[in-house]
Amino acid sequence: MTTDEDKREAANAAVEEIADGMLVGLGTGSTAAFAIHRLGERVRAGLRVRAVATSLRSFEQARAAGIAMLDFADVAATDLAIDGTDEIDARLYAIKGAGGAMLREKIVAESAARMIVIADGSKRVAAIGAAKLPVEVLPFARSFVARRLADLGATVTLRGGDAAPFRTDQDNLVLDCRFAAFDDPLALDATLAAIPGVLGHGLFLREIDSAIICQQGQVTRIDR
Ligand code: 5RP
Repeated sequence: MTTDEDKREAANAAVEEIADGMLVGLGTGSTAAFAIHRLGERVRAGLRVRAVATSLRSFEQARAAGIAMLDFADVAATDLAIDGTDEIDARLYAIKGAGGAMLREKIVAESAARMIVIADGSKRVAAIGAAKLPVEVLPFARSFVARRLADLGATVTLRGGDAAPFRTDQDNLVLDCRFAAFDDPLALDATLAAIPGVLGHGLFLREIDSAIICQQGQVTRIDR
């Protein structure tokens, strides 16, 4: 089986958990795109759901697939969020945000009664920390936040580089951080959240209820 087939398998298994009448949060990235595709098929077969998206890209894909899309600004709570990840471990700690959507992804995940992460086997790790941790930053605070992150021991890179910096859907910047050691993710979460100018980051430590991981066609499920 290819990686894409594993992603599709994990995505399809999660979409099976969507029931009639649910309000669903749709994630971002290639694995989430498989889930949106499958949900579109189920909607066209008669499933009645509404959804919100964690990125403009996913919103457009879902709308084109025939899914009734809402503006999340009008939504206080969702039933189920389904999203991909860059790393996930057995504690259901994850690093997300390689696609730059981690701020909206975190908000939608928090809004959800349940969140399922979907992934191919390459995303499963013994303990998160090898992936770059993306931090979304108000452009005004870019240098100040970069210094604070470096003081925490991170090697910090502006995503896209100085000449053509990547912009999030909110028009903010992303600082990608590599930490030599990643001993206490909960403490790091709190520290990052306390830096003025940090609008969000890719550490997901409390939001995920289940992970559905497919490796070589073999589906594994981890529940909190
Ligand atoms: C985007 C994300 C993605 O869910 C994550 O990067 C995984 O992407 P993919 O399924 O393409 O590997 O967090 O911000």
